[in-house]
Order: sequence, then C-alpha cells, then structure tokens
Amino acid sequence: MDLRDLVVEDAKNATFRVHRSTMTSPEILELERKFIFDRSWLYVGHESEVTKPGDYVRRTVAGRPLFMAHGRDGKVRVFINSCLHRGALVCRTDTGNAGSFVCFYHGWAYDDCGKLIGIPDPDGYAKGFCETERRLIEPPHVDNYRGMYFVNFGSAVPTLAEFLGEARELIAILVGGVNNNEATPLDRWNVSVQSRPTIDFHDARTLISANRASQDCSRLGFELTREKAVLRS
Ligand code: FES
Repeated sequence: MDLRDLVVEDAKNATFRVHRSTMTSPEILELERKFIFDRSWLYVGHESEVTKPGDYVRRTVAGRPLFMAHGRDGKVRVFINSCLHRGALVCRTDTGNAGSFVCFYHGWAYDDCGKLIGIPDPDGYAKGFCETERRLIEPPHVDNYRGMYFVNFGSAVPTLAEFLGEARELIAILVGGVNNNEATPLDRWNVSVQSRPTIDFHDARTLISANRASQDCSRLGFELTREKAVLRS
C-alpha cells in the first residue's frame, strides 16, 4: 500500500479524493495511532464532570482505558484503568462517586487519589511488598486548559498550551469563565453596536457557542474579528 495513492489532491482539476479504505483499514488505524494519537494531546473530560471528591468518569481514549477522578485531596487526576497486579479494570462503571476502587480479580483496593490502600491476604506476598507505597499509573503527560483535561502518551511532546495554540481562544469563549488575571488574546473580543454600546461577553459567547463558527455569526448580522465583533444593523 502506497499511502500517497490514498489521497488525490488536484486543485487544477477541482479534484480532492480520499480512498474509502482510509476509513476502514486496520493498518491505517494503526498508523494513525502511531503517528497521530500516540503523540497528540487527547481530550479526556471536563472538571465539571467530577466536581466532588470521589466523583469519577471512565473513558476510552485512542484505544486506551482511562478514568478521571476527583481525589479527596481536591486534585483531579487521570489514571490508566488497569490494576497494578495483573491489569484487570479497577474502575468498572462509566460514572459515579466512590471513595475507593476495588479490583474484582484479587481485591486490590485503591483510593480516589490512586494510592494502593489494601491487598487481601498480604502474607501471601513477599516480605515488605505490602509496605511499599504503590499508585495507579497516570499517563506520562496530563494537563488541563480551562478545566478541560488532556493526556499525551508521547515522550518528547509540546506543552498543552503550545499544542492548542490559537484554539485556546475558542475554548475560552466556549467554556467561559473569563478571568482578567489570565486574559488570552480572545478575551479582548467584544460585541458592539451603535444603539447598544456593548453586548457583554456572555452574550457573545452564547451566540458563538450556538453557531459554532464565526462565519455563522454573519447570518445573524455579526462580523466577528479578533479585536471585536460588530453588529451590522
Ligand atoms: S488483577 Fe487486580 S487484584 Fe489481581
């Protein structure tokens, strides 16, 4: 398979074709995993999904089983959903609240911060084994922007801020919570019209959120620019 044959882009003849095998081929999926998903920041969930200590959500991200939990120490973490013993799932429901996660296989228990807190029949293990602190594995890179949690499984990776680039501006509008102390370029956006000097940021956000893209705003009579959005009245 020559990958170059799968996409035909010929602007002169107004042709852009993608071979349908790119949507079905296991080989291409593997290549995508290797060259895209294994080195990109991937979205896991939003902090509003786990507002209280013990709250958790389970996710499969790029084929990997994960869960995100709000620990009793107030920190939100993302874990590989795999027991340290023999790899069984430790979080077995999609969402809920739990002070601990108990592996169904041999009963190893972890608290909501990922710490191994219980092993049945500890005498059956090597001396000192149960005294050593162990924790569920976290992906090598976890970060959040405006409460949106991402993971990256690569080794040398850009920061989340670098990876998101100007997309951060759109995220800032979509999720709100604008804080002047951490203003991004897009926080400067506003919507104005002569008869109504300023529509507050919430209004602008609602419109953009409802329409998903700035070009759609024009249908409502808006022009959206980096510095400001102006109502055409
Ligand atoms: S695999 Fe989890 S306790 Fe054995």
